[in-house]
Amino acid sequence: MGFPKNFLWGGATAANQYEGAYNIDGKGLTVQDVTPKGGFGPITEEPTPDNLKLEGIDFYHHYKDDIKLFAEMGFKVYRTSIAWARIFPNGDETVPNEAGLQFYDDLFDELHKYDIEPLVTLSHYETPLHLAKEYDGWTNRELIGFFENYARTVFTRYKDKVKYWLTFNEVNSVLHAPFMSGGILTPPEELSQQDLYQAIHHELVASASVTKIGHEINPNFQIGCMIISMPAYPMTPNPKDVLASRHFENQNYLFSDIHARGKYPNYIKRFFKENDIEIKFAEGDEKLLAENTVDFISFSYYMSTTATSEPDKYETSSGNILGGVPNPYLEASEWGWQVDPIGLRLVLNDFYDRYQLPLFIVENGLGAKDQLVEGPDGELTVEDDYRIKYLNDHLIQVGEAIEDGVEIMGYTSWGCIDLVSASTAEMSKRYGYIYVDRNDDGTGTFKRYKKKSFYWYKEVIESNGENL
Ligand code: BG6
Repeated sequence: MGFPKNFLWGGATAANQYEGAYNIDGKGLTVQDVTPKGGFGPITEEPTPDNLKLEGIDFYHHYKDDIKLFAEMGFKVYRTSIAWARIFPNGDETVPNEAGLQFYDDLFDELHKYDIEPLVTLSHYETPLHLAKEYDGWTNRELIGFFENYARTVFTRYKDKVKYWLTFNEVNSVLHAPFMSGGILTPPEELSQQDLYQAIHHELVASASVTKIGHEINPNFQIGCMIISMPAYPMTPNPKDVLASRHFENQNYLFSDIHARGKYPNYIKRFFKENDIEIKFAEGDEKLLAENTVDFISFSYYMSTTATSEPDKYETSSGNILGGVPNPYLEASEWGWQVDPIGLRLVLNDFYDRYQLPLFIVENGLGAKDQLVEGPDGELTVEDDYRIKYLNDHLIQVGEAIEDGVEIMGYTSWGCIDLVSASTAEMSKRYGYIYVDRNDDGTGTFKRYKKKSFYWYKEVIESNGENL
């Protein structure tokens, strides 16, 4: 069968991790500008010079050359996000910042020059800081209105330039990183489950609401949700471990279930009841959720984990964003993320069986330390065979899932050009096909170099996956 003819091959990025220009052309501050050590904190009062995200890889001033390189690899699609604070610097204004809007106009035009379709995330870990400080982020229902205003503005402006949209990046991550993901300033240890799940409700309502608004503005829009996917295998065949794995996975399914089926699943109602959580629904929320489900499901996939009913018996891995016990059958990256290509095939089948909606893999990749060396042509390069192996193995499993009958729209590997890590704010945790000369201490020329994987991915796209 092979990859479908119109398969969308490409790469993925996010504004806060690579644009830089954090205070240029009227952009306001975001939660990222005050977390120099990564999304899990600590939070600083003001932006500090050690925060690599402030300059990122200066894509803001390099975008034309970078897009040319993406085009050389043959990208059909390119995922990026709009920085909300470039459009509404504080988040709660009514009049947008024209310079911010113009930047994305130019960016999308540049992509179209090469027939690259933009795939745009509305909110990728870059809530305007003002909304965190004044409203405690998504715990406050008022954010729904601000987000609707922002989405309406960009949907209207780019209605003929962008067809594929994602609402919230890794929407389920708010359970683990409330500040980075939901702009919630209350420290996690003081945040009640009641307030956290209420914040989640606000995001879910906002996601449904902007899906509605988007479809009204352009009925051809394809609007998806974006979930961290992570299979959690039972640590042993003990039924209690199987149940623990189900509970772990339900924490993630909760988000795709509501986005795809338009209502809260019963398993979460039991959890709410047992934990004295009562979600306040405003009039119309239920109908809005039910009537505005997503067109497709997108997700990130980096690793799997294991679940156990006896957590004291094992050491947990610090590398996994969502936590968990290391799997003795799998190897891990330098940051402890367990490498599991077959897990991707499982995720694809599970999502598809559950919803029968098209799927889009919008993040996948290996964070690794790269070494610049002189290549055969005398140019500097990186011999990143480890990255090629990781990606190749995962794409083989995507091919298997296609054979299984799963409908897959496309694949955008994460950080197609090196950028600043979300969890650790390091530059040295690199994912790209393109090396960017910038170091953890902020030094570097910002010069770009093609890695060995650049040429490998070009061939993958050229052969539509035949060479895997
Ligand atoms: C996802 C995020 O969690 O994983 C990205 O959507 C992030 O923003 C990516 O960069 C890889 O994680 P990290 O921490 O290695 O950058």
